[in-house]
Amino acid sequence: MAGGRQLPAHADLQPYNHAVAGHDGTLSDIDGELFIKPCVQQEIDFYETTFRDHPDFASLMPIYFGTLSLNDATDIDSLNEQLPGVADHMSQGLKEEAVNMAKAAVAEAEAEAAAEAAAQPVDISWRPNKNRKLATNKSVVLQNTTHGFKKPNILDAKLGRRLWADDAPPEKRKRFEEISRQTTNGTHGFRIAGMRVYKGSADPEELDEQGFKVYDRDYGRLSVNKDTIVEELGKFIFNESAGIDRELGQAVAQAFVADLKRVEEVLASSETRMYSASLLFTFEGDGKALRAAIEENNDVVEKVNGLGEQVDEDGLLGEEELVAVTGIDASALPGVIEGDVKVVELMGEVEDGELEEADEDDELSKLPRIYSLKLIDFAHAEWVPGQGPDENNLLGVRSLIKIFEELSQ
Ligand SMILES: Nc1ncnc2c1ncn2[C@@H]1O[C@H](COP(=O)(O)OP(=O)(O)O)[C@@H](O)[C@H]1O
Ligand SMILES: [Mg+2]
Repeated sequence: MAGGRQLPAHADLQPYNHAVAGHDGTLSDIDGELFIKPCVQQEIDFYETTFRDHPDFASLMPIYFGTLSLNDATDIDSLNEQLPGVADHMSQGLKEEAVNMAKAAVAEAEAEAAAEAAAQPVDISWRPNKNRKLATNKSVVLQNTTHGFKKPNILDAKLGRRLWADDAPPEKRKRFEEISRQTTNGTHGFRIAGMRVYKGSADPEELDEQGFKVYDRDYGRLSVNKDTIVEELGKFIFNESAGIDRELGQAVAQAFVADLKRVEEVLASSETRMYSASLLFTFEGDGKALRAAIEENNDVVEKVNGLGEQVDEDGLLGEEELVAVTGIDASALPGVIEGDVKVVELMGEVEDGELEEADEDDELSKLPRIYSLKLIDFAHAEWVPGQGPDENNLLGVRSLIKIFEELSQ
């Protein structure tokens, strides 16, 4: 969609430019707490049902704040009405851009309808205007999972051996089967749909203006295969030129293993079917910032846990206790990672869509982020009670666990 690109830019707003895959038209503030994505009704339904009835599964997803219905009549007042509470957290610029996006979508739909009408044979070229479907554009408003990172390295791993949903037309099914056959979707149940790595190349020509090497959708389709997938994912994690050495990278990989196992556990006990959903991996790509974030988080973890139950006889947080609490092996990085990040992440994150609560806890909500793993893209996702777990997606998750385990050793 057009996304209002021709409209005047606002100083405090930009189209979301950290997306590594998917469609255009997503929006976020510069400091981006929120991520707004145009989507189909099925995705909205999946977010609604999951956040209402399946809290375990919802914890794997970005926080869902609600939907925006963007149409010709959208103005700032109607945004405030649609998402009271959340709208307070959108900058004026973001609201204006959402309104612009709505108008642009309507204009685009009208132009398309006109072109379609013009292409018809003469005898049916006229259509009464009132019959034209009103263009509406629905968007989900989500937690921006890359918020709080200085240089977010991002990997979109598209899950599944089968990528098409039951309702896919035969041509689409054929095309997706072909893609799966030719890529690691076929062999591993996932493929790299997109990736960006801070200072990911020694050749400045290969970096974007923010210093990232961006691997586009063709990379995972054409350049990566079953024999190179581990090595290619290694490029996401290990990066000496950004100050992420072997040890630090191993600790990051280990953190992802812990979260992946949680994803496996929840998927295995849920009855869902998802086609072309993704796991979105994010971690701090600037080694210096990564180490600083770990230290800052550790200080808070120590403060919070300090006098609690998790102390050894010597009165200090022991490694075993930390592993138990957090899933991270403290010995992986002596003196650097002492506690886990996950605890802090959980504490620092907003629950049940209550942004206000997070704001009250300033110290936690301002902590720099270390890593994050979220399940995204539910355009073809549904709950299927009685049909058992989603083995198609579990295959991909289990392959990722194996690979990240390998990378952590
Ligand atoms: N909640 C989010 N926070 C930050 N980035 C996101 C979020 N959801 C998606 N993205 C980014 O946008 C891209 C496309 O999102 P996705 O949900 O897969 O949409 P599409 O249906 O267009 O494929 C992802 O690859 C990711 O980089
Ligand atoms: Mg996608």
